[in-house]
Amino acid sequence: MNLPQKLLIGLLIVASVNLAAQAPQQAKSDSYRMKTFIDGLMKRMTLDEKIGQLNLPGAGDITTGQASSSDIAKKIEEGKVGGLFNIKSVAKIKEVQKLAIDKSRLKIPLLFGMDVIHGYETVFPIPLGMSCIWDMKLVERSARIAAQEASADGINWTFSPMVDISRDPRWGRISEGSGEDAYLGSEIAKAMVRGYQGDDLSKNNTIMSCVKHYALYGAAEAGRDYNTTDMSRQRMFNEYLPPYKAAVDAGVGSVMASFNEIDGVPATANKWLLSDVLRKQWGFKGFIVTDYTGINEMVDHGIGDLQTVSARALMAGIDMDMVGEGILTTTQKSLKEGKVTLAQIDAACRRILEAKYKLGLFDDPYRYCDENRAKSDIFNDANRKEAQAIAAESFVLLKNQGEVLPLKKSGIIALIGPLADATENMTGTWSVAANFSKSVSVINGMKAVVGSNAKILYAKGSNLDEDSLIEQRATMFGKTLRRDKRPADEILQEAVNVANQAGVIVAALGESAEMSGEASSRTNIEIPGIQKELLKALLKTGKPVVLVLFTGRPLALTWEQQNVPAILNVWFGGSEAGYAIADVLFGDINPSGKLSTTFPQNIGQVPVFYNHKNTGRPLPEGKWFQKFRSNYLDVSNDPLYPFGYGLSYTNFSYSDIKLSSSSMNAGQKITASVTVSNTGQRDGKEVVQLYIRDVVGSSTRPVKELKGFQKIELRAGASKTVSFDITVNDLKYYNYGLKYVAEPGDFKVFIGGNSRDVKEASFKLL
Ligand code: BGC
Repeated sequence: MNLPQKLLIGLLIVASVNLAAQAPQQAKSDSYRMKTFIDGLMKRMTLDEKIGQLNLPGAGDITTGQASSSDIAKKIEEGKVGGLFNIKSVAKIKEVQKLAIDKSRLKIPLLFGMDVIHGYETVFPIPLGMSCIWDMKLVERSARIAAQEASADGINWTFSPMVDISRDPRWGRISEGSGEDAYLGSEIAKAMVRGYQGDDLSKNNTIMSCVKHYALYGAAEAGRDYNTTDMSRQRMFNEYLPPYKAAVDAGVGSVMASFNEIDGVPATANKWLLSDVLRKQWGFKGFIVTDYTGINEMVDHGIGDLQTVSARALMAGIDMDMVGEGILTTTQKSLKEGKVTLAQIDAACRRILEAKYKLGLFDDPYRYCDENRAKSDIFNDANRKEAQAIAAESFVLLKNQGEVLPLKKSGIIALIGPLADATENMTGTWSVAANFSKSVSVINGMKAVVGSNAKILYAKGSNLDEDSLIEQRATMFGKTLRRDKRPADEILQEAVNVANQAGVIVAALGESAEMSGEASSRTNIEIPGIQKELLKALLKTGKPVVLVLFTGRPLALTWEQQNVPAILNVWFGGSEAGYAIADVLFGDINPSGKLSTTFPQNIGQVPVFYNHKNTGRPLPEGKWFQKFRSNYLDVSNDPLYPFGYGLSYTNFSYSDIKLSSSSMNAGQKITASVTVSNTGQRDGKEVVQLYIRDVVGSSTRPVKELKGFQKIELRAGASKTVSFDITVNDLKYYNYGLKYVAEPGDFKVFIGGNSRDVKEASFKLL
């Protein structure tokens, strides 16, 4: 009996005795087989071939049928490429993989990565929108569908989830993350990794996930992209690092280092971050890839020439170099000069090979290249239907005075605004695989939903921005808004005329898709001036106005909140956005999204977030202004819309909190319960949120922190008791010495439908 057979029989015996013991045994034998295979392969590899595995070049311009004449072909044949990214289609990927398999000496298959960020061709809401759903099954489902589609098209690795916590709406990439909260962000990180990777990476419909950007990328100074970050270790560990760790705990296969510096050392060369925290402390076993030219950029960061920074990256823990080829071109020399070690090169190479092994690429390099699946599994009706339903759950109803919404499917409705007929903008930023022209615009969605029951009139009303240069920057990558060259007055007047014919006005305004995303930071976070003028003119007609707000970031909407009766924030809902928007506008779906980021009253309040500290001079509630207190002369400390906020077409009321006990010790738990009632006329969903405050700590603690949530569905008039178990784990934090501790003393519990409007109770940890 050979060893694998022995292990198998052993496993069968264990399974019959104790099922729970099966998984670890299985994993052991799997990893033994993997090690044996990779040991054998690495023995045959030259140093050049090992270094080649660490290279992830840009795909260049590979056209179907001509891969072998592409620039990259020679390198693949020489074994100088570990993988490629952002190549689309089975035909192209198969052709390139064939180069590696047929022409390279050791026939090592390539990884094929892509930024599959919020869907593949079927596009889901931008991640910031997804994070307002608060239903982890749906979040996981979106990643599952994305993996099914991407893997059907040849992709086996995605650069997602992006889990960078951000409290700065100026930063364009806030659109790509899950908002400001570490707990919610961690739940989403886990759900996304589960969705992409499933329970077996080698299946042909699962793909390897890459959590990014490690770390703190969302804390860029002044909200300017790629800018410096600098914060205390305590803040890092409590408020910014948990989502990355959650992804690691969920088994994420790879991690992407971020562009920014941390503590004066760029993340890409930060040994403490990559090796001490990620690998040693958190036990991460996968591989670490740089961001796009992340190594080369360290020359501009000012820590050395290309050879120096490449050696530093490798020795800090980087395994794969995206695009810049610093590792490929300088590592031989660095090894000779003793600046890197063979052990480090071997370790990095092994991790890349392990990823390929786990994906099943050594068994079948074409595992993800099934033309039949490519035809049937991508952008099909079933996926689009799910995306439509998911998109509707991400919308946040910010205001609904006088129940303007839902609209009736009758009469004449004026649909006005530069985002109303903007098919190419519906998917939002980072949707590289999408076919923009196949998305559903608001006008098409509304027309489809009302059919012949109501008449929809349309006018653009204004361009996105008065300044054509700004509009150009905000409509890159084919996300055109077809700028109207007529004078602004004429465009506006046309819209007012249309509006005057209608019973109700829907104004589709806000940001374009590329006004957020990478390198799309803004210092003014209001709706562009020209659109505000349009909104004012529409309100002047005296007709009810519904603002359908497109945005990739929290905006400052103080004027709109004061003047517009109804505001529905639809973010960028994906390829099916138009249908989903119509479903909610007409009440076929009751909105239930809740904000994952605070909306400020104005830009000057930024950063403003719910889990702030108290200070030694807090402003008593409702007492603005007070001299020598922590506040502003010109605006209160309150946000415009708090974290967790979002309305429904029905109303919910909360009973007082019942605690199962007024104290607990570290081994016990307390159950906190409330009864939530739907007091309105419609069925609806509510996100019940649990917050905890550690009243006295050895370090200062936030005024409240999210520690649990449940999304429930209640029929009109129905009530439900919602309970949360609080254990010592919910009370822990990283103290000054970075020990994860729960400190005995008083705690407060808050439960409510947002972070501001909550019921309160107290207990003691003994
Ligand atoms: C972005 C990453 C992305 C990478 C590859 C970079 O510019 O920061 O998020 O995954 O490009 O496209």
